[in-house]
Amino acid sequence: MYASLLSIGASIPSRVVTNRDMENIVDTTDEWITKRTGIKERRFALDTQATSDLATEAATVALARANMKACEIDMLIVATISPDYFCMPSTACVVAHNLGIEDKPAFDISTACSGFIYLLSLSKAYIESGMAKKILIIGAEKLSSILDFSDRSTCVLFGDGAGAAVIGATNDKERAILDVNIAANGKYQDFLITPAGGSRNPASIETVQKRLHFMQMKGNETFKLAVKTLSNDVHEILERNHMSAKDITFFIPHQANLRIIKAVGDLLDFTNEQIIITVQKYGNTSAASIPMAINDIFEEGRLKDGDVLLLDAFGGGLTWGSSILTFNTH
Ligand code: ACO
Repeated sequence: MYASLLSIGASIPSRVVTNRDMENIVDTTDEWITKRTGIKERRFALDTQATSDLATEAATVALARANMKACEIDMLIVATISPDYFCMPSTACVVAHNLGIEDKPAFDISTACSGFIYLLSLSKAYIESGMAKKILIIGAEKLSSILDFSDRSTCVLFGDGAGAAVIGATNDKERAILDVNIAANGKYQDFLITPAGGSRNPASIETVQKRLHFMQMKGNETFKLAVKTLSNDVHEILERNHMSAKDITFFIPHQANLRIIKAVGDLLDFTNEQIIITVQKYGNTSAASIPMAINDIFEEGRLKDGDVLLLDAFGGGLTWGSSILTFNTH
């Protein structure tokens, strides 16, 4: 038994925030953001929306496209770094309840921007071991809730959204998740961090006053490691599967920065048509970024049954990963 990607869905928040809007919040310019990151605008969820609301919307679309009812799902996993609640309940439990899924395993994982690749790895393992047949995976973020809007070096980079997929069992290896590679190195744990609120620095008036509950990033150091790690990782997974850029229909990297995407894409000989770029309109949506990008090309009519996708991501932890899989709607 193999695991395969049966459907995709997304929730794109309606509130568009342009670089010009960001100019009114922090000392930045449209020119700086565009030149350094490729981002032109991002979406922010409404104040009344939590991460689980975006996740539920994306999951509903993915289930409908798979012609599946929520009650047919054996397991639900959410990847997020901006959960509804700190510690508990998990966002997955809230989403399961919203969808009417009861008495099935539901849990969150925290692997930042690599979330969707880790979700693929988990669902592949559960399905191939026979422990589940249909798994709903969701990358969902309301990053605007953990952004420091007085820190121009981070707040201009991120956005909100969710992407969901149904992973199901198949006998056909050619139409499955062919391979997933995931890794992490805690040596770089301070590159991307929300310093307070956990057991290391429990919440106090002081941590709030010092704005330690917001996301912090060593952008430049992260950038350099991202390009190196991602190119190695993608090379390795292609080589391991005796494949080259020609065998891939779409290369869908995590959408953090246009310069990182271009640098990795160039090193790997992908054509412009193969490389999917959505960072200009959504910014970096962490765990949601890859499924949102897959959903974009699906809704544009570009993604077809049988297309082969190469995904790769890099994020806080540090974590990274890549996957080669076939889009299998039959
Ligand atoms: N507007 C104007 N100027 C700014 C802004 C801004 N929004 N932000 C920073 N600057 C300034 C800095 O203060 C600095 O000025 P100085 O030279 O006078 O000190 C200058 O611009 C250059 O800053 P750098 O940080 O060196 O800029 P860099 O070219 O590295 O770009 C960026 C920054 C966009 C953050 C880049 O480093 C990057 O994309 N990093 C990787 C992000 C990433 O991949 N993250 C992983 C996933 S995220 C996750 O897991 C949640």
